[in-house]
Amino acid sequence: MRQVPTSPAVAIAASLRAVGHPRSATLRNGAPARIRPLRTEDAQRFGAFVGQLSEGSRGCRFHAGIGDCEPAALQQLVSVDGVRQVALVATLPLVDGEALIGEARYWVGEPPGSAELAIAVADAWQRQGVADHLIDCLLEAARDAGLRRLYGDVLASHTGLIGFLHRMGFQTCAQGPGGGLLRLERGVAPRPPQPERRPLGALRRWLAGPFVPRP
Ligand SMILES: CC(C)(COP(=O)(O)OP(=O)(O)OC[C@H]1O[C@@H](n2cnc3c(N)ncnc32)[C@H](O)[C@@H]1OP(=O)(O)O)[C@@H](O)C(=O)NCCC(=O)NCCS
Repeated sequence: MRQVPTSPAVAIAASLRAVGHPRSATLRNGAPARIRPLRTEDAQRFGAFVGQLSEGSRGCRFHAGIGDCEPAALQQLVSVDGVRQVALVATLPLVDGEALIGEARYWVGEPPGSAELAIAVADAWQRQGVADHLIDCLLEAARDAGLRRLYGDVLASHTGLIGFLHRMGFQTCAQGPGGGLLRLERGVAPRPPQPERRPLGALRRWLAGPFVPRP
């Protein structure tokens, strides 16, 4: 059975690999976005992002959990360990930095090998493919971390999100968590094994052919 790596270095390397240090993404309106891991120094940017979400979007993403973006709550949200929790953000370049326009994360949970996901995209940037790019990268990170399933518990009335998740390959489970919530989940296919790298000496000998005498 594949195990979730417990070393932070392994998981951080995996999430960095997944987003390609970072990954560029052209949005539907042509805007040049980047997908990269969320960092602790993003607290202010993350606060601006949450502050701009409409009441509806903020409620769907954070429920009652973030209040007025108090610094302590923000610091907690940007402090991800890259192992039990992996968070990616979509950003746009600004003259003096970057603006955060989307966020997706997962928390490793139960059953083993599963993680719950959450996602939000700034209202002004919705329907531009931001969530598509974020979920693609999150799935890559989950794959590299050895996870086997990702799931989200979604309000049954949230047809937009349900439509989006179905499109991303998630299926509604017969058994939901109840309380008006549906569970949508999808498997994470393991990465195919990479061919083993030949030692340089063996490669040189192979290139040199049988005519070069061995020392
Ligand atoms: C759900 C959400 C993340 C989608 O983000 P997005 O960047 O707008 O999604 P995309 O542009 O990548 O959309 C991809 C597809 O998903 C579906 N979709 C996305 N939003 C939808 C909506 N509101 N209604 C119906 N379908 C929707 C569509 O099929 C869409 O493709 P299309 O635009 O070609 O029709 C975004 O609406 C959001 O942040 N909502 C508020 C927060 C939230 O509900 N979070 C989930 C709780 S964790």
